[in-house]
Amino acid sequence: MFASDIHCLVVVGAQWGDEGKGKVVDALAERAELVVRYQGGANAGHTVDAPAPDGGTRGEGGGKGGAFVLHQIPAGILHPGTRCVIGNGVVLDAATLFHEVEAVQARGVSVAGRLTVSDRAHLVLPYHKLLDAESARSREIGTTSRGIGPAYEDKVGRRGVRVGDLRHPGIVAALVEAGCAHANAMLAHGGSARRCDAGEVTRGLAELAPRLLPYVGDAGRLVADTLARGGNVLLEGAQGALLDVDHGTYPFVTSSYTTAGGAAVGAGIGPTAIDAVLGVVKAYVTRVGNGPFPTEAEAPEGERLRTLGAEFGATTGRPRRCGWFDAVAARYAARVNGLTALAVTKLDVLDEFETLPVCTHYQLDGARLDELPDSAAALDCVEPVYERLPGWRRRTGEARRPADLPDAARRYLERLEALAGVPVRYVGVGSRREQLIEL
Ligand code: IMP
Repeated sequence: MFASDIHCLVVVGAQWGDEGKGKVVDALAERAELVVRYQGGANAGHTVDAPAPDGGTRGEGGGKGGAFVLHQIPAGILHPGTRCVIGNGVVLDAATLFHEVEAVQARGVSVAGRLTVSDRAHLVLPYHKLLDAESARSREIGTTSRGIGPAYEDKVGRRGVRVGDLRHPGIVAALVEAGCAHANAMLAHGGSARRCDAGEVTRGLAELAPRLLPYVGDAGRLVADTLARGGNVLLEGAQGALLDVDHGTYPFVTSSYTTAGGAAVGAGIGPTAIDAVLGVVKAYVTRVGNGPFPTEAEAPEGERLRTLGAEFGATTGRPRRCGWFDAVAARYAARVNGLTALAVTKLDVLDEFETLPVCTHYQLDGARLDELPDSAAALDCVEPVYERLPGWRRRTGEARRPADLPDAARRYLERLEALAGVPVRYVGVGSRREQLIEL
């Protein structure tokens, strides 16, 4: 995707998250100088199958490669020549960041000098996680309980603690005192008996500060300088368009701007810096958490997709809800992100199916809908209308070029492309790096 006229590329999820963005970013990161996470936090879970930099083999026989699950570090960390950035739009759980740093280092990945954390990113603090865990609303939404919503609430409520504040212990103590008082009032209001102790949180941050501060800098400046030198920058989204706080199936959404516009804000650059937007979709659809999902497949087909696709949440282990490709959602994601290309992942999961339903439009109260309705309640009531495409019933995992794909698989991709109105540029037929085919 990087080319003489494409230096700044956004990779976004174009469904409800878990589309396989990590694998796509991993494949593209080789040609990127910087990979930047621009929103979300430890709610994301990118699973990337990569050989370890020390030459270890994939997982088997004690090798250090294999599946890396990254929650906060951008997937670019697995390419030794790439530098990674956690942008200002992220809410950072610093304690878990260091668990992740240690875990990748133990497998031969060097992080020192390759990770910059924006001084403007907000911190997820213990009281945010407590609020998320204790809130009835969070349970209704089915959040990941990682404190994401409460951390963004404090950010917008101007009560948040930013990473750069760690340079000033006095300021941190005062902010934590106020944040904790607010959180405790919310806990009491919600009927919870649990409380957070400001002194404990401040002491925890005092311990973390000397470890985190060496990574901290003006991330937006770093991104802008890299682009000005003609370097390639990949902006890596988390979650997906339908979980965007404005464009998603509100209120069943996450609390950040997952769409491409959020990439500019969250990376600290202007929108004119972005040259292209790659939307990642699965060849079918999954969703974790609650909320409308028009093409959700019933048992046994939903169960079959879950088993074949190993569809369990990378962060919470929850079984993902599974269903058929939804072209209405794809068209919508194309519009709200300004997608310039699509990557279709996990095509191989469909290898065994005889026919493949694809939702072309919805019916609502007798009327045809080609676009997503504005409310989750209406989306809950739509009837998906399917076209049934023939399956290919052949293994695709060994395909390396478009010509290696069965005709029916190529026709399936062509149909998705026509319905979404965006050209398909990449196709994933397995989790390994070489299983991403460029069309
Ligand atoms: P939160 O982001 O933890 O507040 O959760 C809000 C909604 O977003 C819930 O439905 C979660 O299941 C969903 N969600 C958050 N992160 C991810 C992700 O990385 N993949 C898929 N769903 C996610």
